[in-house]
Amino acid sequence: GFKSRVTVVGSGNWGSVAAKLIASNTLKLNSFHDEVRMWVFEETLPSGGKLTDVINRSNENAKYLPGIKLGKNVIADPDLDNAVKDANMLVFVTPHQFMEGICKRLVGKVRGDVEAISLIKGMEVKMEGPCMISTLISEQLGINCSVLMGANIANEIAVEKFSEATVGYRDNREIAEQWVQLFSTPYFVVTPVQDVEGVELCGTLKNVVAIAAGFVDGLDMGNNTKAAIMRIGLREMRAFSKLLFSSVRDSTFFESCGVADVITTCLGGRNRKVAEAFAQNGGKRSFDELEAEMLQGQKLQGVSTAKEVYEVLSHRGWLELFPLFATVHEICIGRLPPSAIVEYSEKKPRLS
Ligand code: NAD
Ligand code: 13P
Repeated sequence: GFKSRVTVVGSGNWGSVAAKLIASNTLKLNSFHDEVRMWVFEETLPSGGKLTDVINRSNENAKYLPGIKLGKNVIADPDLDNAVKDANMLVFVTPHQFMEGICKRLVGKVRGDVEAISLIKGMEVKMEGPCMISTLISEQLGINCSVLMGANIANEIAVEKFSEATVGYRDNREIAEQWVQLFSTPYFVVTPVQDVEGVELCGTLKNVVAIAAGFVDGLDMGNNTKAAIMRIGLREMRAFSKLLFSSVRDSTFFESCGVADVITTCLGGRNRKVAEAFAQNGGKRSFDELEAEMLQGQKLQGVSTAKEVYEVLSHRGWLELFPLFATVHEICIGRLPPSAIVEYSEKKPRLS
């Protein structure tokens, strides 16, 4: 019978773990070819070797996920066109700011029958308004695109600690089930939800909340304050999502992609960590500088997402409805001090 071929576009921290999860399943399931291609944005390591060669020789991503075997059936490929050409299932997992360029390069290069899924937390803002990354992929490449989001700190899943995730799909339940099958393991439990916009907006917006939580940590404000920020953040996430897409469901916020991802990212994520350092430095060192120093090439999504959300809010006249989202951006650009993160209670919005 027909066997699906899977390619992972991206090979950062989460991209590498996604390839590992998938590769463990393609070996076990008859409906998939064993081999998993992984497109690698090529770079030369301090040792002088190419990252792709190092991955293929050692079966580890020495830069973005050191110490973890990906599975011998993961093949790193620096050539984007070659990596995608035979695949009928494409998994997109790069930092969101690179996706517009990657999509442009992929036009006309993917199979006509290809199904895609995005694990990318972020969005683009165009002249016409906000554009989710799955929509960018869908529209640019003319293909269907589902999403997978959840409380998924990559390093914890890499060592096979239990977690859950949510697949968001548009209308084809069978395709959602295929993605669930491809990702599920006993330690990674995936639930399909027919609310692609809600799931993707949860994953995207929680990174803004995580920046706020990092500020609270940097200012040593304690647990109650952080819990308050998480609650207010979750409420703004729901309100913003529903204003953009009236189809978004309340129940989505109780899935792994919603409340659970807010919690884990505010406790242990990279956005939280760098925002904490930003606040400890009183906003005197920029996020770009701190990111480069603290993350060894990994990328933050929250700071640019806060800017993108702010553009949407100001363009639509919604700034006053979303004091937390707006304040995060104003702190990030130095217009407000980090302590402003708790100074908006006066302007309490009337969100249900
Ligand atoms: P990462 O932060 O480790 O990012 C670095 C990646 O970007 C590397 O693969 C690097 O080669 C690549 N890169 C650098 N410059 C590039 C360019 N010009 N063009 C293309 N690629 C370039 O990546 P990640 O952690 O895999 O994150 C990818 C997505 O997954 C993000 O949207 C993130 O929010 C999401 N995510 C991450 C985690 C996590 O714990 N790491 C968990 C869930 C979701
Ligand atoms: P950070 O990018 O803040 O590490 O968050 C990772 C994540 O998305 C966990 O689900």
